[in-house]
Amino acid sequence: MQPNLTDKEAAQIRKSIQEKYSRVAATGPASCFRYPTGGEGLQELHYPPELLRDLPPAVIASFCGVGNPFSLGPIHPGEAVLDIGCGGGFDSLVAARMVGPSGRVVGIDVTPAMLDQARSHLALLGLANVSFQLAAAESLPFPDNDFEVVISNGVFNLTLDKEAALKEAHRVLKPGGRVLLADMVLVAELPADKTGKIENWHQ
Ligand SMILES: C[S@@+](CC[C@H](N)C(=O)[O-])C[C@H]1O[C@@H](n2cnc3c(N)ncnc32)[C@H](O)[C@@H]1O
Repeated sequence: MQPNLTDKEAAQIRKSIQEKYSRVAATGPASCFRYPTGGEGLQELHYPPELLRDLPPAVIASFCGVGNPFSLGPIHPGEAVLDIGCGGGFDSLVAARMVGPSGRVVGIDVTPAMLDQARSHLALLGLANVSFQLAAAESLPFPDNDFEVVISNGVFNLTLDKEAALKEAHRVLKPGGRVLLADMVLVAELPADKTGKIENWHQ
């Protein structure tokens, strides 16, 4: 766990993250974030238009990433990809197109409502090489050396134990595997008091 958090505080943060992302799944991200999401976010983050080709509007609208993991390196046909904190599944579905039918993509998330949304988006696309499951970044339900690539977009900042989450990503990667990770950086001081930090965990 994050140093200096009690079990009770950690449980409070986990609950509040799930509540927020259940809200995002119910209402769409547009009203829930201070940064552009959906098609506007994808355009600002320079996702290549050809990646978005033919994607249903609901899939595009669900995007709430903070960067573009695909700008960090290629994903090849036949590879196995893990998407940590897949949300509504946008990046998982894009990765599934890149790896093709001989590859596979697994998206994990801690919010059941987000996974429901990801599965309904998968049904719209009818891809057979993607699955979504409930799991936390800090404790991945996969064997060692299982994936060629880990992608993640806007998730590690939310984890309660960032070191454990990074170790887990490393553990499930094959030797020579790649992490394509987008996240936020701190540009202002966090509140000094612990209560303020907890309240601001996912603002
Ligand atoms: C900002 S959204 C990004 C979703 C998706 N990656 C995207 O780009 O649209 C953050 C997601 O991380 C999930 N999440 C938060 N903490 C997590 C954790 N410890 N392990 C896995 N997923 C987590 C949330 O439920 C939410 O779906």
